[in-house]
Formats: sequence, structure tokens, C-alpha cells
Amino acid sequence: MTPHAQGDSAVSAAAGRAPFPERRSPPAWRDLDTETREAFDLGLAIFNTSWVIAGTPNAQRRDGLGPLFVAASCDGCHNNGARGRGEPVGNRLPNSFVMQLGGPPTVYGAVFATQALPGHVSEGRVELSWSARDGRYPDGEGWELRLPEYRLTQLAFGPLPGDAVLQPRIAPATFGSGLLEAVPHEAVMRIRALQSHAVRGELAWHEDADGKPRLGRFGWQAQAISIEDQTARALAREMGLTSRPHPQDDCTTQQAACRNAPQGGSPEVSDEFLGALVTLQANLAVPARPAGAAADSGAVLFERTGCASCHQSVLPVDTGSGTAIIDAYTDLLLHDMGEGLADRRVDGSIAGSQWRTAPLWGMAHALAGGDAGLLHDGRARSVEEAVLWHDGQARDARRAFERLPAAERRQLLDWVGSL
Ligand code: HEC
Ligand code: HEC
Repeated sequence: MTPHAQGDSAVSAAAGRAPFPERRSPPAWRDLDTETREAFDLGLAIFNTSWVIAGTPNAQRRDGLGPLFVAASCDGCHNNGARGRGEPVGNRLPNSFVMQLGGPPTVYGAVFATQALPGHVSEGRVELSWSARDGRYPDGEGWELRLPEYRLTQLAFGPLPGDAVLQPRIAPATFGSGLLEAVPHEAVMRIRALQSHAVRGELAWHEDADGKPRLGRFGWQAQAISIEDQTARALAREMGLTSRPHPQDDCTTQQAACRNAPQGGSPEVSDEFLGALVTLQANLAVPARPAGAAADSGAVLFERTGCASCHQSVLPVDTGSGTAIIDAYTDLLLHDMGEGLADRRVDGSIAGSQWRTAPLWGMAHALAGGDAGLLHDGRARSVEEAVLWHDGQARDARRAFERLPAAERRQLLDWVGSL
């Protein structure tokens, strides 16, 4: 056996991965009993359903969309479970783009709804423009990045206050969520304790419905504590659909037309459908690494430059029947990534620069279409651009990357692109 093949077998030993021969029907990472398989299949059908206006005949309990929304189906943003496709080209936003609004509550609610049912007015439009940033590696090779700038226009409910925070986000993949949910929080705390002071992350504690602290794991800032939490949020905010955990959608009290619009049931998404969506995501596998994936010399450089102190290659998961190991390349912790990546307020001031270490598993699948937008707002057109945006707690790692000889930089980038 060549050393390369040994490396591959170590990789395939990680739980949660499976080949994706058919993009459209992503596989489960474990064998499912009949009942779970039925819920998984129903979940996939609901995930792909385009919800319709309340009261549509023969809607099979799939009505109640909006009236304000961003997209009509989960699949509309997470295409077949994958991250949002469509790198932002020119001034066109990716189809999976969501502008969340942070800061003190405004009339617009938590998500800026760019679509509305007939008879309603959307909250407005998001306009995007770019400015270039360029520089050179120490060896003289040049690079160019692009910095997005967002403007909200055609504001239906008046101007936003200067302290409203613009939170541009693209949809991450939903693959492997069940495994990330099964990482014991003690393991995350152990990783944190071993991180050097300079890169030590923060735990994203949030309260659950009973007021108990739970570790945030999902979303670019780890603000959702579970798959169900994230799903119910998406239904309410991105799609205007109520469910048991979120009996209110994102219409605010000042949005009377939205409040008074007919409902598709109460809640609009039944517990059966919500449960099926959760079962689907809890069991979705992560795409296996491509055959003949890049040589493991890239893995050595990944360690040596310090990428691995945040993008952890080994995490334990509690599978219910024992412990397994996953290669998600995240520590599920929040890190300060510097001003360049920070969210900004409407008045231009910096609001927050802490991000969950993005899991890198499935990167080869994400890059396969050639139009992936990386980082939380999709600004990076390649792994290289994503790395060059690393700053704050990741500055030392970025600098170590920049100082590598060009051939080693390439090896490292190819390896990350093969995960
Ligand atoms: C309009 C686009 C859009 C729609 C529709 C949408 N999502 Fe998302 N989804 C996003 C964005 C953007 C994020 C990142 C949110 C954040 O960082 O706060 C996200 C995050 C997630 C995550 C977290 C993944 C991770 O590892 O962090 C899951 C799981 C998820 N969505 C599932 C769903 C499900 C299930 C549905 C349908 C009920 C859905 N989404 C509908 C855009 C969308
Ligand atoms: C201090 C922790 C830290 C270190 C060190 C670090 N990263 Fe990251 N990485 C992050 C965080 C946090 C994000 C998400 C940032 C965002 O979306 O704005 C990220 C995002 C990424 C992404 C984009 C992933 C996606 O899904 O869009 C890539 C690629 C990446 N890192 C590669 C690397 C490489 C290669 C190195 C080493 C040169 C490295 N990182 C070092 C924390 C770190």
C-alpha cells in the first residue's frame, strides 16, 4: 500500500460520509429502520415542496406561505441539501441569499422579506456592489479580493434606523447536521481548553424553550441550538410559515396586512411535517471525499499553518449506540475574524465579527458546480479567497499560509478543496 492509500483509508474511517451518486437524492449516513426511512422520505418531499398561498385547494396541508417571505421551499435555498448555489456575479445576489436584520427590533422583523404574495408589498430590495482589494504574497504573486457592500432600497415601511445591523448570509449545506448536533458539548469545551490563548474560541450558549443553556451549533454564528430550532426559524422567517416552536411568523405588529392575512392552519406546518424535516436532516450524510483526493501533504500543511486549531479534523459524536469520530473540520466555537468580515450597521459602523468555524467537510461537493460562494455572505470565489479574508484570531494562520512557497500554498488549497 502506498502512503497515499493509507491516508485515504484513515479518512474513510470517519463516520457520516457516504457517496452521493445522485445529487437529487442525498443518502443517509446510517442504516435507517422502516419507520425512520419513511420519515426521512417524507422529510425530503417536504424539503422540496414549494409552499403555496393559504386556502389553495388540494394543497395537502402545504399551504400558508408568506405573505412576506424570501423563498417558497427549503430546497430553493439549500439545493438538494447543499449550500446555496450561485456565486454572486456582478450585482446579482445568489438565490439562497438572506438579509437578516440585527440590532434593536424594527418594523421589518428578523429577516428582510424580498418577496410577497399577490396583494402584499415586499419589504424591499437588496442591492449589492463590490469594491476590489488587492495585495501580494511575500513571494510577489498577486491576489485580488472583492468586498461586498449592501444597500436596502424600495423600503416599504420607511427607512431603517442607523443602528440596525445588516446581516448578509448565504445558505450553508444542511449535510451532516445530525452529527454536528451529536457532538457532546463537553468535547467542544475540551477543544477550547486546549486552544492557545490567541485562537481560543467562545462557546455560543443560548437558552432553550425551558430556559436551560444549550450550545449553539447551527448557522454562521452558531445561534441555533438544534436542527428543530433552525428549521422552525427558517419556516417562520424565510418562508412565513408557523410551527409549534414558532407560532408567530416574521410579521411585526406594525405590519397589519401581513398579520391579518389568512393562515394555512394553526400552526401552518404540522408536527408530523416538522418532525419529518428534522429526521431528514438528522440523517443526511456528508458527501464522501472524491476518489484520488489530493495528497495528504496538504493535511500536514493544514496542521502546520495552524488551520487545524479551529478547523478540527477529529470530533467525537454520540451516535446513540456508541461513540464515533467525524472529520467535520470545525470546533463549533465562535472566533473573532476581524473587521473585514464583520457585519455592519446601516450607519457603517462595525457590529460583530464573531463567526462559527465553518465546517469544511463536503468542500469538494460544494465546489463541484464551479459557482460556490464561500464565507458567510458568499463573497469568496475560491478557497484561496476565503483564506485571504481570515483575520483577527485567524491572522497568524493566514500569514503562515501567505509565507508558504507557492507550490505548498497550492497543495494546501487543493487539499482543502478535496475535503
Ligand atoms: C431564503 C433562503 C433559505 C430558506 C428558504 C431556508 N434556508 Fe436554511 N439557511 C439559510 C441561511 C441564510 C442560513 C444561515 C443562517 C444563519 O447563519 O443565521 C441557513 C441555515 C440552515 C441550517 C444550518 C446549517 C448549519 O450547519 O449551520 C439548516 C439545518 C437549515 N438552514 C435548514 C433549512 C430548512 C429545513 C429549511 C426549510 C424549512 C430552510 N433551511 C429554508 C437560508 C435558507
Ligand atoms: C481562528 C480560527 C480559524 C483559523 C485558525 C482558520 N480558520 Fe478558516 N474559518 C474560520 C471561521 C470562523 C470561518 C467562517 C468565517 C466567515 O464565514 O465569515 C472560516 C471559514 C473558512 C473557509 C470557508 C468555508 C465556507 O464554508 O465558506 C475556508 C475554506 C477556511 N476557513 C479555510 C481555512 C484554512 C485553509 C486555514 C489555515 C490557513 C484556516 N481556515 C484557519 C476560523 C478559522
